[in-house]
Amino acid sequence: RRVWCQKPMGANTVERSQQWSPASWRDKPAAQQPDWPDQVAVGDALAELSSLPPLVFAGESRELKTALGQVAEGKAFLLHVGDCAESFRDLSAPRIRDNLKIMLQMATVLTYGAALPVVKLGRVAGQFAKPRSKPTERVGDSELPSFRGHMVNDDAAHADARIADPRRMVQAYHQSAARLNLLRAFTKGGFADLRQVHRWNQEFVAHSPEGRRYEMIARGIDDALRFMAACGVDLERAHEMHQVDLWTSHEGLLLPYEEGLTRRDSLTGDWYDCSAHLIWIGERTRQVDGAHVDFFAGVHNPVACKFGPEAREDDIVALCERLDPRREPGRLTLITRLGADRIEELLPPLIRAVHNAGHPVVWACDPMHANGLVTPSGVKTRHFDDIMRELRGFFNVCTCEGVWPGGVHLEFTGDDVTECVGGAEPVTEADLGVHYSTLCDPRLNARQSLDVAFQLAEMLRPKSVRD
Ligand code: PEP
Ligand code: CO
Repeated sequence: RRVWCQKPMGANTVERSQQWSPASWRDKPAAQQPDWPDQVAVGDALAELSSLPPLVFAGESRELKTALGQVAEGKAFLLHVGDCAESFRDLSAPRIRDNLKIMLQMATVLTYGAALPVVKLGRVAGQFAKPRSKPTERVGDSELPSFRGHMVNDDAAHADARIADPRRMVQAYHQSAARLNLLRAFTKGGFADLRQVHRWNQEFVAHSPEGRRYEMIARGIDDALRFMAACGVDLERAHEMHQVDLWTSHEGLLLPYEEGLTRRDSLTGDWYDCSAHLIWIGERTRQVDGAHVDFFAGVHNPVACKFGPEAREDDIVALCERLDPRREPGRLTLITRLGADRIEELLPPLIRAVHNAGHPVVWACDPMHANGLVTPSGVKTRHFDDIMRELRGFFNVCTCEGVWPGGVHLEFTGDDVTECVGGAEPVTEADLGVHYSTLCDPRLNARQSLDVAFQLAEMLRPKSVRD
């Protein structure tokens, strides 16, 4: 496996970091920002956000960075999953709990199958803003301004609903706080206790082949716990058994929102974006001289950046230099979204370039966003087989290049939706109309997600056993 050495920062970087402020991005071109009709109201929203308590603490972000540092070294695996776009209308305890259940199930399958710690990172509690390829979209017979996520406008099919409203940023904060509060209670208050593994298997999953396979693992865990108790291990005191760390993340797209939630850490004096533990830059906003990269370069959170088939070696190395000048393990995750057909051709030179520049990044694969297609009847979907094919391509390339295939980035939901076609009990094109509720991109349902986890555990297993 490749090894890394840390490099001191250049004079340029030191100077830049001394001048940086959460508002520095304003001097740079910012892609994908809404056309706010009322700039005064944007300022008011930002002022209100700045006066509110942080959603997460700097110390928590540092813990996640340490955990991701373990991933960068090949000692853990990153499971980065959640909704494509969270909805203001879905703020219910069952919905939050069901998404958590499938995440815990996937993490269990991976930890058990691959014998590796799994870093659990949700696209949750802030994933409300969406980049769009066009400023307008066709809905039925009308051409409307594009829906940009509930942090910006509403998805209803009329022009008034699509007007960008800055007060939605404050609403997004409160929505995120409510979600995070429940997630903290679930993950620390007993629901994520390893003795509850059976409870995470929802009914519609339990009766499927994936659900039955999961039950076998759950029974194996029961047996192991009983065995350890019989050996005299005090399981009550092992807090890892009773709670999990669930970290939050979203695409840091709307810069006034991120600026408003950025605070100086009282312990270190460093700036942290306290809207989430990790924020990422999407494929459409990763311009190295752009506003997003400038903002991300100044905050000390762990950050991620996605890139698609257009990415060139120079761009990616320049991004790494801006976002990870200290060559710090865990600081930067690079998320590939290159497509099942092209990943094996496009990824190797990028891995080599990043390696030669000395950045100890986490390599993660998003097998969703470059495999989208539209059915003849106009429905957006993705094929389960393409998703698996891109993941296999990613594992092959990483293995050949001697880097750790550190993580996976998926869009899923705990609901029994029919949005992606295929899987063990296949969703067909004809099923797409049955339960299609995503606000943006098609998501894996709970059974398909579990299927991915089983296949990933198999791909990871030989490696972890070999090491
Ligand atoms: C997303 O993650 O929902 C997204 C829009 O990704 P990308 O920036 O890779 O297109
Ligand atoms: Co998406």
